[in-house]
Amino acid sequence: METRLADVGADDACNIPLSNLDVSEAKRFQDNRIWSCFERLRREDPVHYCQDSPYGPYWSLTKYRDILAVDANHKVFSSERGVTIVDVPDEHWTQSFIKIGPPKHREQRDTVSPIVAPENLTKLEGLIRCRVRTILDGLPRNDAFNWVDMVSIELTTQMLATLFDFPFEDRRLLTYWSDIGATIPKKGHAVDSWDKRSKILFECLDYFTRLWNERINAEPRLDLISMMAHSPATRHMDPMEFLGNLILLIVGGNDTTRNSITGGLLFMNRYPSELRKLRNNPKLVSSAVSEIIRYQTPIAHMRRNAVVDTIVGGKRIRQGDKVVMWYISGNRDEEVIENASSFVIDRKNVRQHLSFGFGIHRCVGRHLAELQLRILWEEMLNAGLEVKVVGEPERIASNFVHGYSVLPVRIAA
Ligand code: HEM
Repeated sequence: METRLADVGADDACNIPLSNLDVSEAKRFQDNRIWSCFERLRREDPVHYCQDSPYGPYWSLTKYRDILAVDANHKVFSSERGVTIVDVPDEHWTQSFIKIGPPKHREQRDTVSPIVAPENLTKLEGLIRCRVRTILDGLPRNDAFNWVDMVSIELTTQMLATLFDFPFEDRRLLTYWSDIGATIPKKGHAVDSWDKRSKILFECLDYFTRLWNERINAEPRLDLISMMAHSPATRHMDPMEFLGNLILLIVGGNDTTRNSITGGLLFMNRYPSELRKLRNNPKLVSSAVSEIIRYQTPIAHMRRNAVVDTIVGGKRIRQGDKVVMWYISGNRDEEVIENASSFVIDRKNVRQHLSFGFGIHRCVGRHLAELQLRILWEEMLNAGLEVKVVGEPERIASNFVHGYSVLPVRIAA
């Protein structure tokens, strides 16, 4: 039997035949053993065809410019068959506006985007600052604790509850549904079948349907449910489309920012000279936030399918082929980003990264994510809070959400 990368150690990524290289194995992400694979692909085969993987055949794009070109070209590279490497079975498929093109995509996106428009973000700033202070004040002073749970999840889940005007005391349900929504079922794991995943997500649908029914008969307000219930673009969604858009907004607003908050603390600990730079010059905070989001790349990939035969990086891609844009690799492409494998908070062109995607589906919530991270770091600096990482992070087993379940920390006395 031929050796596939999934079966061998990280360093062997450099030795096995290229044709056997499959970078998608979730365990590899969990063990943080992805970097040598992507480095090799960028160097030797930037547009790489993997014939045999648990997700079927797919192309990997690993260079910045190829990813940008494909992401910006929705007419040739469509998201209509899904945005992750996995092919969701038809009976579990949910529609959402990230999986459709114009004009319906624009109408639905425009329905929700006012909540993250600059005027509303200005209004939210005070609330976020107040919450950040409360969360930081409440952290244990003498014991180690899990930063992911007490800060990253708490802050982003509170925000999401506000965006949905979701009952605050039930907000951890949002965290739960977010994690389930981002999960690909796997034997031996807590969610081991598509049926189980759908069953849990239907509980989410039931809960939100109650909120929808209350709000559709009330005055329109600035929360995501009310906005969708009152807009002609979304008012007549069938339940599976409502669920799809809910999961899009929940995962979009939750996992991504959460993992940037955790990654930021980890990187500042691993690169103490960068933290010193920030302490000496707090005006660098916005630049630091962009660098955190590049360096973390909380969404490792997005997937498209070619609508027609086409060429990318000299390779012929056939109509229907699955194309995976590895943002996580493009963000480490030395041809575009100097010294890309280092964390440098004051680098030139710091906003030039792929973490939010490009083209018509470019992240709608990016300014809100940046705002939350900026305020968190401003408040940590103001309070002179020194948070030390005191153990190894535990990463999640996913090739899509690039993040952490545990980061043990302690506040320095
Ligand atoms: C789309 C990343 C925060 C809501 C996306 C895409 C990426 C992304 C990669 C797809 C882009 C593409 O296909 O070209 C991130 C990262 C975040 C973040 C890294 C935080 C650091 C948020 C927040 C929200 C949000 C806070 C909601 C409040 C969405 C939505 C879409 C999206 C609704 C779909 C947009 C469309 O299809 O037009 N995001 N996101 N995201 N994001 Fe975010």
